Amino acid sequence: MVIENVGIHELVDVVVNILDARDPYTFLHSWRVSELSVLIAEDMRLPEGEIKKIHIAAHLHDIGKIGVTDRILNKPGRLDPAEILEIQAHPRIGCNIFERLPVLREISTLVLYHHERFDGLGYPDGLEGDNIPLASRIISVVDAFDALSSDRPYRKAKGYDACFQEIEAHAGSQFCPVVVKHFVNIRHLVPSALDKFEKKEISHIAFVGHEELMHSRKHL
Ligand SMILES: [Fe+2]
Repeated sequence: MVIENVGIHELVDVVVNILDARDPYTFLHSWRVSELSVLIAEDMRLPEGEIKKIHIAAHLHDIGKIGVTDRILNKPGRLDPAEILEIQAHPRIGCNIFERLPVLREISTLVLYHHERFDGLGYPDGLEGDNIPLASRIISVVDAFDALSSDRPYRKAKGYDACFQEIEAHAGSQFCPVVVKHFVNIRHLVPSALDKFEKKEISHIAFVGHEELMHSRKHL
């Protein structure tokens, strides 16, 4: 059996399909975060190599949630302190998975820091400002936007305008202000970037019809 020459994209594809099997909501959330993160990175005119890393890191940023129980991931009410600690372990779990492979070590750092805050009040390490990798700062903004604009077990989705208002209100505290500025620049591209999920144009979703086993996959 020949197993060498497995490309990074095949490997990433396998991993995101593992995520799809385990947690379809997070799989699609990550896909949307990836689409918008790349648009921001392009608006920032980052080099092609950086944009590729952001694309991969965005797809993989929440992979550590495969280590968090469904009971907590889908809990409709408030999380208690022990549950918050469990869910806050997911960036570290994701990082631990990817740092084993040298080619993904840089991606593992971007995954580790996607819940840091610009004001230093995030986790896991309380990094501040530009000490947080730029890719992680981009993913952080889009991650919050997608959470706000999606129905969650504990609250209903907000409209895009309300989501942008909330993101802009937290520029300089939770979010990197430069990233927020570029996100506002691509505001007009957001509906078309996300509409494809509604129109089911994505071709390689691996599993369809296992909603009975998992929580519902609302975009399909
Ligand atoms: Fe996360």
